[in-house]
Amino acid sequence: MRVVSGIQPTGNLHLGNYLGAIRNWVRMQDEMEEGSQCLFFLADLHAISMPHDPSELRSATLEMTAALVACGIDPAKSVLFNQAQVPQHAELQWLLSGTARMGWLGRMTQWKDKAGKNREGQSVALFSYPVLQAADVLLYQATHVPVGEDQKQHLELARDIAQKFNNDFAPKDENGEDAPVFTLPEPFIPPQAARIMSLRDGSAKMSKSDPSEMSRINLADDADTIMKKVKKAKTDPEPLPSEAAGLEGRAEALNLVAIYSAFSGQSVSGVLSEFGGQGFGAFKPALGNLLVESLAPISERFRELRQDREALDAILARGAARARELGSPTLNATYQALGLVRG
Ligand code: TYM
Repeated sequence: MRVVSGIQPTGNLHLGNYLGAIRNWVRMQDEMEEGSQCLFFLADLHAISMPHDPSELRSATLEMTAALVACGIDPAKSVLFNQAQVPQHAELQWLLSGTARMGWLGRMTQWKDKAGKNREGQSVALFSYPVLQAADVLLYQATHVPVGEDQKQHLELARDIAQKFNNDFAPKDENGEDAPVFTLPEPFIPPQAARIMSLRDGSAKMSKSDPSEMSRINLADDADTIMKKVKKAKTDPEPLPSEAAGLEGRAEALNLVAIYSAFSGQSVSGVLSEFGGQGFGAFKPALGNLLVESLAPISERFRELRQDREALDAILARGAARARELGSPTLNATYQALGLVRG
């Protein structure tokens, strides 16, 4: 098993990132069998596809590294690095750009959402972003890619690119059979909490780019801030139903119950059998307390780790050296399959 996934180092790590992805990264790392390998990275090259402030990007990369370690990513078990220190990502992206099709990229919902009506004004990087994402996983022959629901389409594109490349360019082995250059990666999307919604709008996903801080809970928020955000979360006037079917059409209520379920380890039905019939006046404080209790150890570690910039730099440098080694056979095979002459 080769597990590979990334996160953009823009803004803070929030509950959606944690429940949709990072918590599963940690589980996969901790359950890893002998011979398997996990690679997790800060997608700093992706972050330049939108307008950004260079000094903020540098500090956000280190902060996000601290946040991942605080969540349980162990640099002694997993390869933890940032893309910018592993030039093979950008190199492979270019090599795959000959295979990816404009039409495929034009259909990406993230591109359509972020570009809106102003497509002509967007960076080329925002458009070709999914090709870099494909390179990120194909470079390491990833078998499993743990992500939230919103990244599923990008992963399907990575599979399409890998498949077309293998079809068009796979060399023959000694028996005359095609020897594929790339493994087709499987997205691993958690059955629950794959899409955590904004606390202000149950139809929008919780996101780092939402201008309202009240829309998301950051893992580093203090207890008062968490309680305030939960209490102000948008809801409806009805009490909670006793069964899951009663949450249909109540996106905000469903989101809060899903968050409670994810942290308590109870099923949605279990949560509703406890809180069914009660109003949000009772449920919100219970949810707030559960969050404060669950996040306290993470935010405490985060506050400690973020101080030591040198240690964080060293983690990334070590991870990047290992990633460069792991990536180079596939990159070489790709150059060769394409007929590119290299010394
Ligand atoms: P990013 O940085 O937006 O998010 C990191 C991870 O968090 C998940 N996530 C969510 N899950 C549930 N509910 C939400 N509201 C929510 N918001 C975010 C995302 O699905 C993701 O798993 N393009 C990627 C980064 C990337 C990547 C890759 C991922 C670059 N290369 C290769 C996997 C493999 C991104 O911007 O994620």
